[in-house]
Amino acid sequence: MTDTTPFGQQLVSDVPEEELIRHIQRLRSEKNAVILAHNYQVSSVQDIADYTGDSLGLSLEASRTDADLIVFCGVHFMAESAKVLSPDKRVFLPHLGAGCALADAITVESLEEWKERYPEHTVVTYVNSTAEVKAESDICCTSANAVSVVRSLESDKVLFTPDKNLARWVAKQVPEKEVIAYDGVCPTHDVLRNASVDRTREDYPEAIIIAHPECREDVVDAAHEVCSTTGMLDAVGRYPDAKTFIIATEEGMMHQLKLRYPEKEFVSADGCIGCRLHCPYMKVTGLQDIYFSLADERFEITLDDDVIEGARAALERMMAVPRDH
Ligand code: 13P
Ligand code: SF4
Repeated sequence: MTDTTPFGQQLVSDVPEEELIRHIQRLRSEKNAVILAHNYQVSSVQDIADYTGDSLGLSLEASRTDADLIVFCGVHFMAESAKVLSPDKRVFLPHLGAGCALADAITVESLEEWKERYPEHTVVTYVNSTAEVKAESDICCTSANAVSVVRSLESDKVLFTPDKNLARWVAKQVPEKEVIAYDGVCPTHDVLRNASVDRTREDYPEAIIIAHPECREDVVDAAHEVCSTTGMLDAVGRYPDAKTFIIATEEGMMHQLKLRYPEKEFVSADGCIGCRLHCPYMKVTGLQDIYFSLADERFEITLDDDVIEGARAALERMMAVPRDH
């Protein structure tokens, strides 16, 4: 199982990047592994991945891969979803520090309390949650399908967990339903104020503003487009004449945007790239972690069978609903 280290006495941090990449590629093919990366990962991780995408795209990819091993470069809840959707595969999270403050905002116990308060409500849980919380929910959603998921429900009473910003945005799109929002936020997105977006817009008055729905209401209201991270890539294509785009989401997103649209200009909504719209959890994984994950087969995601069964039902109900755009 352990790869005899090919680096001798040399520290992995001292190994040149090209050499590390060669070893990752060798191990990936020897072990029939697939590397999945979220759009917020550091550029070198996105570049070595077989597939880069948003939460929904990565879940779909995990559910249909032929690989034996999935190395998931994102955060813990995403790797758990991959395990839930491909329980026969071995799924690895390269760095144990890759958590999510929003997923931590809800527990099975706190969800039970909210369910007792709203017993008639259908529970829609954003995928940024643990597998245990998903297993106690009726259906999941991502930022790419939240509106369609809520619209698809027979019930007109919804308890939406854990992100209150996303819940409020969905409620505005689906006014015919009563949407009760749980009290969680993503600190990376919730920190942004429209005053910063306005200041950025003073320098780029013609710019198109694209925001993630985890942002606060004033930011989302100022945006021309509100969508998931992969949705942002498609959104730019809807403005062929625009030159500059103000992006209200985690700064890692800039990498795929610049790769897809090298002729366009992308500016962070807080006025400077990487100073505040930075998710520390998404940034802990580096090439050396991928190398060790493949070489030593670490850190494997394991879940109880009943949790897999419950979370899978909620995720599969979600996957039957099309994307919002
Ligand atoms: P997406 O599903 O839009 O990629 O978002 C995931 C996330 O964690 C946003 O903070
Ligand atoms: Fe979680 Fe926010 Fe980081 Fe997304 S950006 S992984 S919601 S902490």
